[in-house]
Parts: sequence; C-alpha cells; structure tokens
Amino acid sequence: MSSVLRVNGGRPLQGTITVRGAKNFVSKAMVAALLGSTPSTLRQVPLIRDVDVVSGLLSLHGVQVDYNQAEGVLRMDCGNVRLADEHEVNAHAGSSRIPILFCGPLLHRLGEAFIPDLGGCAIGGRPIDFHLNTLQSFGASIEQRENGYHLRAPGRLKGTQVELPYPSIGATEQTLLTAVTAQGLTELRNAAVEPEIMDLVAVLQKMGAIISVDTDRTIRVEGVEELDGYTHTALSDRIEAASWAAAALATGGDITVNGANQADMMTFLNTFRKVGGAFEIRDDAIRFFHPGGSLNSIVLETNVHPGFMTDWQQPLVVALTQADGLSIVHETVYENRFGFTQALRDMGANIQVYRECLGGLRCRFGAKNYYHSAVISGPTPLKGADIVVPDLRGGFSHLIAALAAQGQSTVTGIDIINRGYEHFMTKLAALNADVEMVAS
Ligand code: EPU
Repeated sequence: MSSVLRVNGGRPLQGTITVRGAKNFVSKAMVAALLGSTPSTLRQVPLIRDVDVVSGLLSLHGVQVDYNQAEGVLRMDCGNVRLADEHEVNAHAGSSRIPILFCGPLLHRLGEAFIPDLGGCAIGGRPIDFHLNTLQSFGASIEQRENGYHLRAPGRLKGTQVELPYPSIGATEQTLLTAVTAQGLTELRNAAVEPEIMDLVAVLQKMGAIISVDTDRTIRVEGVEELDGYTHTALSDRIEAASWAAAALATGGDITVNGANQADMMTFLNTFRKVGGAFEIRDDAIRFFHPGGSLNSIVLETNVHPGFMTDWQQPLVVALTQADGLSIVHETVYENRFGFTQALRDMGANIQVYRECLGGLRCRFGAKNYYHSAVISGPTPLKGADIVVPDLRGGFSHLIAALAAQGQSTVTGIDIINRGYEHFMTKLAALNADVEMVAS
C-alpha cells in the first residue's frame, strides 16, 4: 500500500531542525571506500533510503558495512570485495542511480563490473552515454545484455583525456573514481565542480590520490597503484537546507537549520533574499524566515555550480506562488522538471510552462519539445488537495504546498521523501506542522 500523509495546512512552520551529510555526496563517498585497501569511516551520514541502498549494494559486493545511526558513523571494510550476483544487484538498485559509479572501483579491483537498469527520479531522460564513453576511453570493454551492461578491463585501466559535452555530476564522479587508480594521467575537461564533488576529491586525496582542479573546470588526476581507506566528515546537505528554507518562506514561518553552511549556499541565499526572504547566518546554522510583507517575483535560471541548483528549483517555485507579480524560471539542467507544477495548479497556483527558453540564454533544450520554462503568477492562495508524489524534490515541494495551503490535503506516496530527507516526520513535528500518517 502507498504511504499517505494527511496535512492540515495554513500554519507557519516554526522551530529548529538539523541536517546531516549531503545525500549526493555520502553515497559517492561510500563507493569511494571500495577503492581502499584498509577500512573507511564516514561521519555525519544521514538515515535516508539512498544510504540504505548503497549499503546494501556494498554488502552484495562483499563489503562489511556497520552503521551507527544515532551518531551517523558508517564504517566500511572492503577487505573481501567480490562480484555480486546480478539479479540481486538488479533487485536492489531499482531506486538509485549510484550503481553506475561502482564500475571504476570494481574494474580496478576485480577486472569486471555490472551496471543494472538504473532508477532515480523521473525528471528527464537521464541517459548514461557520458559514463559509458568515459569508461571505454579508459580501456574498459562494455557489452549490453538483457539485464544491464557488463564491463571488463583486460588489465590496468589507462589514464585518458575526456571532454564532457555537459558538466555532468555523475560523469565527473565516474571519471574521478576510475582515474585515481588508472595508469598515468587523466585530464577531464568541462568537469562539474559542485561542492559535493570537491568533497569527493578531498576524500580521494585522503586515500592517497593526486588530483588537481583548475579554474577552467579541468581536473587532472595522476593515477596511483593503491589507495588506503579514509576517515571523513561529510559536508552538509545544502539541498535539504534549502528545501526547509523554502518551506519557511511559503508558510510564512521561521526555521533554523542546524548544519546549514553559508559558503555552499551563497547562490541560494542571494535568490532567497531577492524573493524577500530573510536569513541570519550563525556559526553552525542558518535561520530562514519570512519577515512579513509581500514577496517579490524574480527571474531565475538553474545551472551547474556556482549557479542556482536544479534541486533547489522545485521547493522555491512553491514559495514563488506567493510572490507578487510574474516570476520566470528557466530550467537548464533537466528537460522535464516541471511535471510537479500540475499539482500546484490543482491547488490554485497560476503556473504556465513553455517550451521556449524564457528569461535567459538559450539552453540545450531550446530547440526541442521540452516544457522547461515556467511562468508563475502570484500571489495565489493555495487550497488543500489530494496529491500524488511524483519524485523526491517534486514530492517535497508538494509537501510544502500542502503545508502552506488552507484546508486539508492528502499526500500519497510520501514515503519517497525518505530517499533524501532524514527523519522528515520528526522534523515536521518539531516545526509544529499538523500532519498525520494515515497509511504507511
Ligand atoms: N547527462 C547526459 N548523459 C550522461 C549523464 C548526464 O546527457 O551520461 C545529462 C543529464 O540528462 C542531465 C545533465 O546531464 O540533463 C546533468 O546530469 P548529471 O549527470 O549532472 O546528474 P546526475 O549525476 O545523474 C546528480 C544528482 C541529482 C541532481 C543532478 C544535477 C545524485 C545521485 N544525483 O544527478 O540529484 O539533480 O546531479 O545537479 O547525485 C536529487 O537529489 O533529487 C537529484 C535528482
């Protein structure tokens, strides 16, 4: 049965919550542990489904994983890495895109790897061509079979030159995780340089890798033969922090997010302020609040770092339904990330989506048939509705809308939120939300 949350909206969210390590870093650091000849320890690991999935995948590959949930400490012993059963990997990987990143470490350790059918959020086609091309250029052979891709490395992989057609986060991580133990130099041009990637570089450096990052998005890796384990504290989750910030704004509330980090959220904070939100930076927290009065409409474009993250877009759009005038949001990272706006329209929001690149430069989706620009006209009161959660960030945005709306909503499929938001029910209770799980 699908999980259903009943929400009585229209109350400001107020209180303090804590975010721990970033989902989109922790899962990659867990894969990096596979490269270590000694155990690794990762701190600030949140209790989210993606961590569960990657722990399970590591276990299937012979890694001993011990997780102290309360302390957020994850220990991984990779002394006995072995190939996993493909059916088990396929059964396990359905909800995650991380299995593709196992390739480099497994090819290095075992000479073989397997990529199952990948899951993840339905926000665009999500091809893996950059990954496959990169792995091939390191010398891996790839065979597509019915249940996934089978990869082999005849001997040690060889350093290579890669230029990404787009600064993909996953393909940059793929290159890093493969290049660190490949023979010789690898040069990656047009790399992604998000803070989560820089933290992965820090982990790999602790393990013994030699990696330099240039200002022009070129990453150079000098391969080494062997790496040790690491001990590392994960950077905090700036997507979760921004999601709660958007919730504070949309509900007219006041939320202090312990663990939120200003340096990684500069771009979000600028936009939050332009919309009319207020914040106070503390040593290890940021307080986000609605200062009263009306909110401002804005023109916004998502982009790779240091631009405005695509994952911040969906929660913020909910707040923009409460801003005065016309806001324009141009999504340039994923071609199909406005599907969630239908539910907002059903709740009373005035949002139109367009194929054209609005309000910014022409992006790679401009000449195609993708509704990747949105015009939001506000403020419009939101009213409770029955909503079905589409994906992780879209789902959290629906939750925010239900919390901001007058009246009762039921949010079906709410369990998806557990993929990336730790203890969200406990946090909602701490923020004085009127919610009740009616089916789980
Ligand atoms: N792309 C290709 N070919 C590839 C790889 C990517 O065309 O082989 C395209 C994608 O289709 C997309 C763009 O490149 O249009 C960027 O994709 P990227 O590879 O950067 O995304 P990802 O690594 O699959 C990660 C996060 C996403 C986040 C994006 C962008 C993880 C596990 N996922 O995905 O997070 O939206 O980067 O910032 O790190 C989420 O947390 O909800 C989430 C979806």
